[in-house]
Amino acid sequence: MAKIDFTGRIAIETGAGAGLGRCYALELAKRGAKIVVNDLGGSRDGTGSDDAAANKVVAEIKALGGDAVPNYDNVATRAGGENIVKTAVDAFGKVDILINNAGILRDKTFTKMDEENWDAVMNVHLKGAFFVTRPAFDVMKANGFGRIVMTTSGAGLFGNFGQSNYAAAKMGLVGLTNVLKIEGEKYNVRTNVLAPIAASRLTQDVMPPEFFEKMKPDFVAPAVLYMCSEQCMDSGMVINAALGYFSRSAVLTGPGAILSDGKKIPTPEEVMESWGRITSLDSPKFFKMLPEMFGELGPVLK
Ligand code: NAI
Repeated sequence: MAKIDFTGRIAIETGAGAGLGRCYALELAKRGAKIVVNDLGGSRDGTGSDDAAANKVVAEIKALGGDAVPNYDNVATRAGGENIVKTAVDAFGKVDILINNAGILRDKTFTKMDEENWDAVMNVHLKGAFFVTRPAFDVMKANGFGRIVMTTSGAGLFGNFGQSNYAAAKMGLVGLTNVLKIEGEKYNVRTNVLAPIAASRLTQDVMPPEFFEKMKPDFVAPAVLYMCSEQCMDSGMVINAALGYFSRSAVLTGPGAILSDGKKIPTPEEVMESWGRITSLDSPKFFKMLPEMFGELGPVLK
């Protein structure tokens, strides 16, 4: 089995001062990567800041004999994103790997969801990934190599009570990845998505204590490391990871129903009558990009 090695690779990791992010940073460093440990060091809801979070992980990496620099910028600002990437280029000369991991929670049921809590979560998860990835992508494109990992959540992929802001932001990252996988292909910039489940301050009050004990971030990290490696040539994968269980989730399209000859507009009643066939997921197809979907219209276009 080929060994995964990050010697000579430069990684940026957002939110690497705690939880899952800290674990990925340590594992990447153990295998030779030099790391920009970004963390704002705020509270679970994103308020406040503290340099100690990033500093502590940098010290841990150095104690292992690795190389890392701290960065305390807020991913949710354009200046922050630019400075995170600049930190990597100034310290180490390039960026090979970017893990968009920083995250906060502001859970509320939808009827209590106000704009402030909506925006705070969208800004860190979705806009934050945009702000950091945008300048990092330029550097990766110029070097002909890049591995990007986005962090989504089962809350977005499958739904979860009280997390409309978080679910929307997390699915936004899947949409963003669907485009980056296409735009990065010829530059060897691969973007994949992780949906982790692990014990951290974000899950402390939602997991039963016996679960919390077992769900160590270390079980998730191997999937992240593989997706960051030069061996991983896939792009656009959404990978669930928890406790040593790994699987792929995807948007699939059912066989559908053609209710027109391309000239006659179907009635809503015809849609109602065919709803079972329209919503069927028997023998689903996976489309790699939008134009492939147009192929399904072939019989009507003939
Ligand atoms: P965590 O709260 O332990 O770590 C998140 C880190 O991001 C914190 O150190 C925090 O200071 C940092 N951060 C927050 N806002 C930031 C900002 N604006 N700029 C820079 N850093 C910022 O949480 P955890 O669980 O390790 O989460 C990591 C990622 O995994 C998040 O994106 C989260 O949504 C996602 N996730 C976690 C799951 C879990 O089971 N723990 C489940 C699904 C997704």
